[in-house]
Amino acid sequence: MLLSRLPLACILVFACMTAQAEGRNAALLASSCAACHGTQGHSVGGTPSLAGLDRLYFIEQMQQFKNGERPATVMMQHARGYSEKEIRLLADYFAEQK
Ligand code: HEC
Repeated sequence: MLLSRLPLACILVFACMTAQAEGRNAALLASSCAACHGTQGHSVGGTPSLAGLDRLYFIEQMQQFKNGERPATVMMQHARGYSEKEIRLLADYFAEQK
């Protein structure tokens, strides 16, 4: 009885651990944006705030910076350094900031 539930428990624990690791990764990735976009995306200067941005909008902007569709001063350089997966993580992270 107990043994039959073990695999499920393992899967749940593992799922939680990966979710937490991704949370940390996103915060770590986002910390390199803080210099210009403020802590957790709350801009205090001339840059746009990222906190609470719609995730699809965010992903679209990052892709447009990457391929040069959206003209930018610095974001073209920054966006190129991130993979699709990292951009999705960042989009989730900033969309969650209130
Ligand atoms: C050196 C300063 C700087 C850093 C670091 C930086 N940005 Fe930016 N970001 C800007 C500026 C300035 C703009 C306005 C567009 C432009 O001129 O490049 C911008 C615009 C944006 C936009 C568009 C916002 C909107 O409302 O349309 C997004 C999304 C964005 N940045 C994401 C990021 C992410 C994610 C990071 C970290 C991986 C980051 N930026 C790091 C300066 C920076």
